[in-house]
Amino acid sequence: MGATLPGLLSALLLLLLPASLRVRDQLPASHRREAKDGIGGGLHPIVLIPGMSCPDLEARLTDAYRPLTPGCSRVERVGWFGLLTNRTWKLDAERAECFVDQMRLVYDPVLGDFRNLPGVETRVPYFGSAAGSGSKIPTHPEFCMGALRSALGTLGYREGETLFGAPYDPRYAPPIPGQTSPFYSRYFRQMARLIEDASERNNGRPAIVLGHSFGGAVALEFVRNAPLQWRDRFVRHLITVAPTWSGGYVRPLTAFLSGPVDLFFIPAAPQLAMRSMWRTFETAVATLPSPAVFGRRPLVITRNRNYSAYDIADLLVAVGSADAVRPFRERELPKMEYFEAPMVPLTYISGVGIPTAEQLIYRDDDFDRLPEVVYGDGDDTINIASVLAFEEKVGMQPGQKERFKSMKFAGVQHSALITDERALSAIMDEIAEANR
Ligand SMILES: *[C@@H]1O[C@H](CO)[C@@H](O)[C@H](O)[C@H]1NC(C)=O
Ligand SMILES: *[C@@H]1O[C@H](CO)[C@@H](O)[C@H](O)[C@H]1NC(C)=O
Repeated sequence: MGATLPGLLSALLLLLLPASLRVRDQLPASHRREAKDGIGGGLHPIVLIPGMSCPDLEARLTDAYRPLTPGCSRVERVGWFGLLTNRTWKLDAERAECFVDQMRLVYDPVLGDFRNLPGVETRVPYFGSAAGSGSKIPTHPEFCMGALRSALGTLGYREGETLFGAPYDPRYAPPIPGQTSPFYSRYFRQMARLIEDASERNNGRPAIVLGHSFGGAVALEFVRNAPLQWRDRFVRHLITVAPTWSGGYVRPLTAFLSGPVDLFFIPAAPQLAMRSMWRTFETAVATLPSPAVFGRRPLVITRNRNYSAYDIADLLVAVGSADAVRPFRERELPKMEYFEAPMVPLTYISGVGIPTAEQLIYRDDDFDRLPEVVYGDGDDTINIASVLAFEEKVGMQPGQKERFKSMKFAGVQHSALITDERALSAIMDEIAEANR
């Protein structure tokens, strides 16, 4: 199903309405717009936040752009262009180098945050639409939210009326309360407005927020960053499907050490170029394994030294990324010990029973090559240790545990948790239940 133009337009219009027109609670019931003809009638609006490989990114280059790669400066690109789209996989080697160059982030120690290279402006298109961010891997068209959107359609959900989406810039990681983030402060404001407006158009019904994978972490942090009163008023239910929350997991270590193998599918780009790009992203260090979850067990084994979750800063230095240590310590380490519950009804969905990287062995200390992997339990991406820690540390908190439900699906892989028939039908049941 593609995006309907009216759907996209109304989502856009929503965002453009001045605050004064977005009157909410004070509006008498008789003045609220009634849902027409039962289409979306009675439904709680839902906002979908897709996984990391789903959102598009657009860029614009200015005169200040000084590419590290000669040849990329040719300003044949005027105005906004699609930097990361479902056509990016077709890039030839030369173009792929420019992609890598323009995607890079730099850490600004004064700002205490990441930003684009000078001369590169970026934006995320299709905010508000659930249809805008689809799979970028041609061999896996089913990735992202397509199947879920179709299923929601059969429940009566309609794009732009009751069904919305909130794509984000996959290079940045969401902050915890108390941290600043230029990207996410704006994104969280847009999201709050999207939800307030969606609620207003649906008889004041609070929204369901559903995120998958990294989008699940974004959903969780959005809710945890919102004032409690706002959550009570506007969030009916939070559904996190295999969230890559800050308890972390082992796979991001492989991506950092040896390159992101399947996060960005660009066959013409050399693995080491992708790795150098990936290492500049905040997301590269955001979900590394947390000491509180992984303890002292050796996660990375090299000839002379083993590294546990306590030794990650040393590991970053050992692989030549001393630059990443400061942002890791300043921004990510505090997140790894932050276990506040979202304090809204929460359904937490996980896959188990699939071999999942648990230990990485670099026998020759050669990080340029993929490691030997020791597998344990999980969904092929998230380790079971991380799932159990979430249940215990977040789900079981007083005030949360009465409205916490954890569902595990045996044999369902990370990406399939939003496409597999069994998991999908359980998610639909949760959404139907939240609408009762
Ligand atoms: C690529 O993305 C655009 C914009 O979202 C969409 O219209 C188009 O159908 C997508 N193409 C494929 C092959 O998925
Ligand atoms: C590293 O861990 C492995 C596996 O647990 C162990 O056999 C080895 O002795 C450890 N090496 C060092 C240097 O501690």
